[in-house]
Amino acid sequence: MEHKKIIIAIDGYSSTGKSTMAKKLARQVGYRYIDSGAMYRAVALYALRHGMADTVGSVDEARLTAALPGIAIDFKVTPDGQRTMLNGEDVENEIRSMTVSQAVSPVAAVAAVRHAMTDLQQQMGREKGIVMDGRDIGTTVFPDAEMKVFVTASAETRARRRFDELKAKNMNAGYDEVLANLRERDHIDETRAESPLRKAADAFMLDNSDMTLDEQDALLLRIFNERTR
Ligand code: DC
Repeated sequence: MEHKKIIIAIDGYSSTGKSTMAKKLARQVGYRYIDSGAMYRAVALYALRHGMADTVGSVDEARLTAALPGIAIDFKVTPDGQRTMLNGEDVENEIRSMTVSQAVSPVAAVAAVRHAMTDLQQQMGREKGIVMDGRDIGTTVFPDAEMKVFVTASAETRARRRFDELKAKNMNAGYDEVLANLRERDHIDETRAESPLRKAADAFMLDNSDMTLDEQDALLLRIFNERTR
């Protein structure tokens, strides 16, 4: 039997393994994967390069809002996986740096930035058959998504994961700095006025602090099968 195509929204805190989980699920079910955080990171990189944002949390909202029509973001599929493109330039590696991590939350709190990214994300989901991960996918971008998951884990577990990830990429950062950045971003993401990070009422709550990847995969596939029946 042909399964119906749905939209899968995976939201939650940073470094919960959301992206890894969303990417894998997309591969298993043959859907397209979209990393919405990468889009905000690309805007933050643009803002940093043009002196419209810095790493201590200030953003020139007016200039950034005016610059938005000139910021084109999309994804390119390559043998190395999906690459985030900013005005035609591959910025996939640069957007994962600590510098961008420090600038991104205030940039993502700018209403005009959120509206522009939400529009783009909704266009990407027009034909369904996508897995999108982020903070507000199940609440704002696709409130009617057929499958919603909200992922969480303790701050220490998440900081350890992000620290190991940065170390593996030879990007310098101390564990304490990573933990502090993560807490700071959680706070900004949860308290911003425009679509704050929160669980959609109909999202499945997944705390993976003490879950193996296999257990998590099995759980997600079970939910997927239920929702596409
Ligand atoms: O998931 P991430 O760490 O790559 O996200 C980067 C930042 O972008 C994070 O501070 C939250 C923000 N973000 C958002 O506001 N809305 C989304 N849908 C995705 C990310």
